[in-house]
Amino acid sequence: MMEASLFLIISISLVVGFIFIIYIVSPLITPRRLKLKKAHVVITGGSSGIGKAVAVEVLRQGASVTLLARNQEKLKQAKQDLEKHIIDKGYQKILCISVDVAKDYGSMEQAIQKQDMEVNYLGSVYATRAVLPYMKKQQCGRIVFISSQAGQLGLYGYTSYSGSKFALRGFAEALQMEVKPYNIYVTLNFPPDTDTPMLQAEMETQPEETRLISETSGLYQAHDVAKIIVRDSLNAVFLSYVGMDGYMLSILTCGMSPVTSMMVGVQQVAFMGLFRVISHLYIGSFDRIIRKCKEQREARLGDAKDK
Ligand SMILES: NC(=O)c1ccc[n+]([C@@H]2O[C@H](COP(=O)([O-])OP(=O)(O)OC[C@H]3O[C@@H](n4cnc5c(N)ncnc54)[C@H](OP(=O)(O)O)[C@@H]3O)[C@@H](O)[C@H]2O)c1
Repeated sequence: MMEASLFLIISISLVVGFIFIIYIVSPLITPRRLKLKKAHVVITGGSSGIGKAVAVEVLRQGASVTLLARNQEKLKQAKQDLEKHIIDKGYQKILCISVDVAKDYGSMEQAIQKQDMEVNYLGSVYATRAVLPYMKKQQCGRIVFISSQAGQLGLYGYTSYSGSKFALRGFAEALQMEVKPYNIYVTLNFPPDTDTPMLQAEMETQPEETRLISETSGLYQAHDVAKIIVRDSLNAVFLSYVGMDGYMLSILTCGMSPVTSMMVGVQQVAFMGLFRVISHLYIGSFDRIIRKCKEQREARLGDAKDK
């Protein structure tokens, strides 16, 4: 009995000691937090939703922003709304440029699902190409890509969208490896459903299966997502998640992605197996939703034929 409790105490002490050492050593591999005062933040899609909320967040921390979007009226309105968040009129500026980020750098041939690949993937690639030479020259910078939880797992109704967001991940991982020696860090954020004009529009046409599956996770506000995006980018976090579902997915899908914190690395090793078990339950429930919707649809069709 005595021996068993001694063994337990020693084991717990070893685990606590190990976590403490990792916590102490972790800052050695973690890049220094970037300060936003007098920085210049370029936001593609900055006139609405998550992009606009990110603009609020970085203006409050002293940065200047350049917003890229197509609709001039929306840009003008965004600039007006954002001006009140400037903390120092002396140096902070808001610049708005009307541009289609998917159309720059000449034309390219796309075979399938042009729209999603153009905006989500090529729009990010082109914007990165435009800022990279300056960041390399100043040997410092942060690049943020907005993926989606549908960029971590394939979901019903998102075949085109998920494909473009998975492509973005491959690009982000390879890019991070290339630009790390220049002290440039990439953040890939995976927002869950966020209350924005894009989601409202999407909900009008999404299949019932997609709606029911989406309902299993919560709805977030753009300003909360934006706070996390800015924080994680400044801290050079590669996989940036929102909420408990997001945490689980980021551990489950970490693969060979870069790690900038030992604490995160340890959590990935410790929890991956457990989260994989939990994921089986989720996948099972999604499959049941899809099967039920199919049966209901077929029953409705049968009823209609009988009439
Ligand atoms: N809302 C969600 O639930 C959710 C969940 C996961 C991931 N996301 C991702 O988060 C990102 C932002 O989404 P959001 O919900 O904030 O959308 P949103 O409110 O509709 O804002 C989209 C912004 O992008 C601009 N834009 C769209 N196409 C463009 C183009 N070709 N060139 C330049 N600008 C363009 C829009 O302005 P113009 O139309 O005037 O160009 C607008 O400023 C997207 O990558 C989305 O996939 C959103």
